[in-house]
Amino acid sequence: MIEIRTMKVEDIAEVVEIDRSSFTLPWTERSFKYEVTENGASRCWVTEVDGQVAAMLVLWVIVDEAHIATIATHPKFRRRGFAKKMLIHALVAARAEGVKKALLEVRARHVIAQKIYCDIGFADVGRRPMYYRDNGEDAVLMTMDDLAGLKIADTV
Ligand SMILES: CC(C)(COP(=O)(O)OP(=O)(O)OC[C@H]1O[C@@H](n2cnc3c(N)ncnc32)[C@H](O)[C@@H]1OP(=O)(O)O)[C@@H](O)C(=O)NCCC(=O)NCCS
Repeated sequence: MIEIRTMKVEDIAEVVEIDRSSFTLPWTERSFKYEVTENGASRCWVTEVDGQVAAMLVLWVIVDEAHIATIATHPKFRRRGFAKKMLIHALVAARAEGVKKALLEVRARHVIAQKIYCDIGFADVGRRPMYYRDNGEDAVLMTMDDLAGLKIADTV
């Protein structure tokens, strides 16, 4: 069974494992716990597949804007549409609570992720030079100015 649902404290060990296998600058377990239990701006999601956490996403709602803080799929569950569907799900939920626009930063060389965001309706609006402290890579800033324009297609 596949389910997109909000992240619980009990998911955090699996979420941390996904994070560590996905990023060179992973978050701490404590950061995820803070996001789930204390940060009122945070909306944390997972995709569960047959009882296992396959993908995770953290989004911050700041007034009428959603900031995608992190998104990753466990290496063994990639290329099955989970990241795209979960991101759309999270943005639809944000839109339902009054969020009007969304933004994210993505590594300049990460063209796969940029394509996913573009397909959903994000546009490349600029760069944040030397944004990533591990290798000094630039971030591409992508925004969706009107969540009404979210490209849901037949993916949810
Ligand atoms: C980027 C990432 C989140 C994508 O997760 P995923 O669940 O595999 O992505 P999806 O299956 O939803 O893919 C969505 C689209 O991207 C394409 N895609 C995904 N990975 C791809 C790859 N390695 N090569 C080519 N295309 C790819 C898919 O074909 C799909 O396109 P489609 O809708 O036309 O079929 C995942 O690779 C990951 O966790 N990477 C490490 C963490 C990371 O970089 N996060 C993003 C930070 S900005």
